[in-house]
Parts: sequence; structure tokens; C-alpha cells
Amino acid sequence: MNITFSKSEMPKTGALAILVASGENSSPSLKKLEKQSRGAITRALKAAKFTGAKGQILQIVSPAGTKLSRLVLFGVGKGSNLKALEIEKVGGQIASKLSKSGEKMVTVLVDVLEGADIGEAVIAAHVGYGALLKSYRFDKYKTKLKPAQKPSLTKIVIATSNATAARRLFAPLKQTSGGVFFTRDLVSEPANVLHPSEFAERVKSLKELGVKVEVLSEKKMADLGMGALLGVGQGSAQESKMAIMEWRGSANSKANPVAFIGKGVTFDTGGISIKPAAGMEMMKWDMGGAGAVSGLMQALAARKAKVNAVGVIGLVENMPSSTAQRPGDVVTSMSGQTIEVINTDAEGRLVLADALWYTQERYKPKIMIDLATLTGAILVSLASEYGGLFTPDDDLAEKLIASGEAEGEKLWRMPLGDAFDKMINSQIADMKNVGGRYGGSTTAAQFLQRFVNKVPWAHLDIAGMAWTDSELATVPKGGTGYGVRLLNRLVADYFED
Ligand code: BES
Ligand code: MN
Ligand code: ZN
Repeated sequence: MNITFSKSEMPKTGALAILVASGENSSPSLKKLEKQSRGAITRALKAAKFTGAKGQILQIVSPAGTKLSRLVLFGVGKGSNLKALEIEKVGGQIASKLSKSGEKMVTVLVDVLEGADIGEAVIAAHVGYGALLKSYRFDKYKTKLKPAQKPSLTKIVIATSNATAARRLFAPLKQTSGGVFFTRDLVSEPANVLHPSEFAERVKSLKELGVKVEVLSEKKMADLGMGALLGVGQGSAQESKMAIMEWRGSANSKANPVAFIGKGVTFDTGGISIKPAAGMEMMKWDMGGAGAVSGLMQALAARKAKVNAVGVIGLVENMPSSTAQRPGDVVTSMSGQTIEVINTDAEGRLVLADALWYTQERYKPKIMIDLATLTGAILVSLASEYGGLFTPDDDLAEKLIASGEAEGEKLWRMPLGDAFDKMINSQIADMKNVGGRYGGSTTAAQFLQRFVNKVPWAHLDIAGMAWTDSELATVPKGGTGYGVRLLNRLVADYFED
């Protein structure tokens, strides 16, 4: 989708969208059109009970007294209560309403919000951002789409009296959307295409943006002693990989980085502890954490964030085969700690154990945040409303929650503690990879914590967030890209020079 900003002018022809606030003084341009149409538009507003309330949409095809092909009004509610995030939702509505309308282009007027407490340029930029995010499509495998099934809309012109400021505000948002789309592409890709080596290849594209990318082979990981990660991948014909992305954007290129670690299980059958058939296809997106870390690194590099950041992703395929690890096997992690693998389906934590240890040893990061589609139990707790946040660090928790709130990628803090930690003690090894029947998301987090030393660390369980089966305001069905906006904001607000 091509999004541009131009100076505020009412177009004479084509499709016109207007943001309308509720209340008396809203929408001078709508008033003008009402006059021009000699009451026809006013009648339409009345008949449809359109008041400008939040979420309302009114489409008038070929409005009388104008040469427009259509006029579409989008209610935004009270002008004095507008939030950038709400405006993005309106952008999303514009993109979906007009996507297959037959229109190639729409002009959006945003000069209509009297009394708004955020500036017109902010509104314009975030309308554009929302529309852009919602217009994402993953249709590379659709070979039979008829023209009518394809989106007609390719261009959105946002008309605002402050186009220059809007353009400036939009630039980093567009760069961030590139990161979100990179993640969505990875998450949507089927597992026969996106195996660990292919994932690592795709991540190499970040080199163009100035990111240093390194890929570790199985041989290299064996030399490093990553027995936990390698055990998960040993049943697969696909070689396990670890990809390391380094962005040095801080004025002090030697400053310790912030680190992001992702679970990249490109397919999770469960291994020998095999999953039931129903719904197993969802496990192609068990690399959502690694996908988010990759998209985040792309966003940071694209907008030249003034921060040193590393992304480390563990890439494996969890398969049952004669070479697969067995329940009861004991593996030795890079940290030296041994793990009894009670359930081969609790594989994500095994991958992260070595990725976390490697990251903290090599980079001495300021903070370390891991993202993982780690447990079904987090869906039981939080559905798809919040990602689960686990951290012993109150300060980091606060920053993460605030960042999520601001970007519409919400987090809910969950408990950690010794009582949970005890649940993963093993009879014969240092720990086992599952706790009991209850508290599954927390025992998984406790497991991870055993691989974190002094560094401030947070674990985000995004099993409920990486994918959506329903259309969301600015996220189409499929891979969501959850985590990119959240962590990009965290970096921007708290960790840049
Ligand atoms: N990848 C799954 C978790 C998952 C479930 C992600 C549903 C997305 C949707 C993870 O590897 C897993 O299998 N976890 C097990 C852990 C159990 C064996 C302790 C689970 O949650 O059932
Ligand atoms: Mn699993
Ligand atoms: Zn998994």
C-alpha cells in the first residue's frame, strides 16, 4: 500500500473518506459537502443515524451534488479523547472498507477534528500507519485469485494542513511496519518451506540494513556444548541453526547491548511425546518468538535506532524419528546444567536455555528479553488478550507493560517464585523440563530463569499472540507480528542514546 500525505484539499472526483468526530463543531469539510448536496447528505446521515460515534461507518455512493464516486465517513468519537492507537484503528477500517471496493485510490481528510488534543499531523501519520498495517497480505500461494478477489486499493492520500510534519512522523512508523511485515511473512510461511536453514537465510537479508548476521551450524553448537538445543533438533532431517543479529547504532559502538532471544521451532510435532493431529498445523508458527526478534532487528536497523541490540534465535524442527530424543533422556546444556527430558513436547525451553546462556556469556547484555510461543497454558490464562510477562525485575516489568499499552500489544504480569521453581527438580539430573499438571506457564518460566544469571531478564510467553484466526483492527488473519511494535517502543522510549 502506497501511503502519501498532501496538503489539505477537497478532491472533486474519486473516493473520499472523512474522519468525523461526534459533537457539534466537527467536520467543516463534511458541512461543506452537506451544503453542496443540498440536503441529500444530511438526510443520509439522519437515515443512518450517523453521529460520528467511535466505530461508525457510513458509505454514500455517488453523493448528490458532487462528482465523487463515493464518500465514506468514519466516526472517531469525541475529538478531545483521541489516542494515536484509536486513530490507527480508523486507518485499519479505511483500508478494509475500501480494499476491494473497486477504487484504486482514496483521499482521506483529517482536518475535521475540532478540539482534538493530539495534533493533526499525529492523526494523519497514525491513520496512515493503521491503514498500512491492516493492508498486509500473505497471498503468495494463491494462484487462482480473480481480479475481483484481489485488492483494488493501492494508494491512500492523506490530506492534512500539516503534510510535512505528518510525513516526518510517518517515516519511522513505516520503517517499523517493515519489521512487522517481515515477522508476519516468517510466521505465515509453511514449515516445509521455512525450515531452520531457510529461516537463517532470510535473516541474512538484514545485512543490507547494516545488521551483522552470523549463523551457527550444528557442528559449531556442539563445540559450544549446546546439548539442550541440539537434542530437540536431533530427530529432524533439517539441520538446527542459531542465528545471531547485531545492530550497533549507539554513538558508543562498544556499549553493552540490549538482547532479544527468540524461540524458533519451525515445526513442533511434539517429538516422541507427539501432539494430537487436530490443530497440529498451527505448530508451523511455533517460531513466532524468533520471527518477532528478527522483525524487531529489521525495524531497529531500518529506522537507525541509536542503540546497540542483538537478536539471538534458536532454530530447530521438533520431529519424531529413530534419531529423535526420548522421554527420560538427559542432556547437558551449554551452562553445564543437566536436564532430564520428561516430555519432548516441552522443547521450546530447551532451545531457549542454550540461546539465553550463549547470549549472556558472549554479550554481557544490559537486559535480556526472550519471546516464545512457549505454553498452551498461557492461552488458558490470558486467551489472546495479553502476552504473559514473567520477570523478577519490577522496573523492567513496568517499562514493558507501558510499551505494550502504548502500542496495543498488551502484557500481563504473571508470578515467579521458589515454590514454582521446586516443581522442576529432577530425581537424576539438575532439573526436568516439565513441572506438574498445574502452573505450566510459570514452571516453564522458572526453567528459563535457571539459565539467567545477574542480568535483568524478562520472558514473554506469546503463544496466544503470534497468530490470529480473526480479523483484528490493524492485523489481518494470520501471523500478527506481535512483539515487534512492543519492543521497538521499549527500545525507543528507554534504551536509545
Ligand atoms: N509450542 C507449544 C506451545 C503452544 C501451544 C504454542 C499452543 C501455541 C499454541 C510448546 O512447545 C508445547 O508443546 N508446550 C506444552 C508443554 C507441556 C508439554 C509441558 C504445552 O503447552 O502443552
Ligand atoms: Mn512443544
Ligand atoms: Zn513448541
